[in-house]
Amino acid sequence: MQEYSDRVRRLDKTIAFVPTMGYLHEGHLSLIREGRKIGDCLVVSIFVNPVQFAPGEDFENYPRDLQRDLELARKNGADVVFTPDDKELYSNGFQTYVNLKELPNHLCGISRPIFFSGVATVVTKLFNIIKPHFAIFGQKDYQQLSIIRQMVCDLNFDIEIIGAETVREHDGLAMSSRNVYLTSEQRNSALCLYKSLQKAQALLSSGINDSKKIIDSASEIIKSGTNTEIDYIAICDPKTLIDIKKIEGQALMALAVKVGKTRLIDNMILIP
Ligand code: PAF
Repeated sequence: MQEYSDRVRRLDKTIAFVPTMGYLHEGHLSLIREGRKIGDCLVVSIFVNPVQFAPGEDFENYPRDLQRDLELARKNGADVVFTPDDKELYSNGFQTYVNLKELPNHLCGISRPIFFSGVATVVTKLFNIIKPHFAIFGQKDYQQLSIIRQMVCDLNFDIEIIGAETVREHDGLAMSSRNVYLTSEQRNSALCLYKSLQKAQALLSSGINDSKKIIDSASEIIKSGTNTEIDYIAICDPKTLIDIKKIEGQALMALAVKVGKTRLIDNMILIP
């Protein structure tokens, strides 16, 4: 992979990179198509990264279908699909991790304390292997995108990070590889995530800017769904991810909810 990238770079051509954990859906494909437009050469990685899963999470059961993914990546414009295995990326004795000080202490980082260290570490490794000029991440994983941007700035990676809009199903459910875990009843119930975000924006537009009131309303909508359990609902500063009490400018509303056993996340930038 490194030799390939060196060759592309020697020809003065640019590399766009879309990192994924596979089981590609329309959300990934929109990132891949975006990458196709931006770079002369497009690399997609498929790697279910063990170090971002805690014991008891779904690493073993994470959906995988490499043949289908290769086909979809190719059809949507990938020149190279990089599919390392666990042992290639984490040899015996691996001991270097990338940790950020502040951004992981909020939102998903609270219930998934090792997650962002695992993400920052693997993305650093993939950047060093693929040597892209551009890398594209979905805004559905807003905190992940913030962390990657911060890391790229802090560690002087010469890579432009591009955030791409969340792709939703026709009824608003944010696309996620984990949606396949949902039964049809749970899928229906999962619509409460997006509904609560839309309601939040409606409340803000009607002049209510007290975060607690908006969060309470979201919480009610989510609790009315069957089989739902709230991990967090937060309204915070879009840069620092620190909670805000009164919404005076743009604010990030983010939430994580378990529907049955499946943990789903979604977010929206609220605009007064
Ligand atoms: O968003 C994902 O799919 C993963 O967290 C990533 C960025 C590919 C790192 O494993």
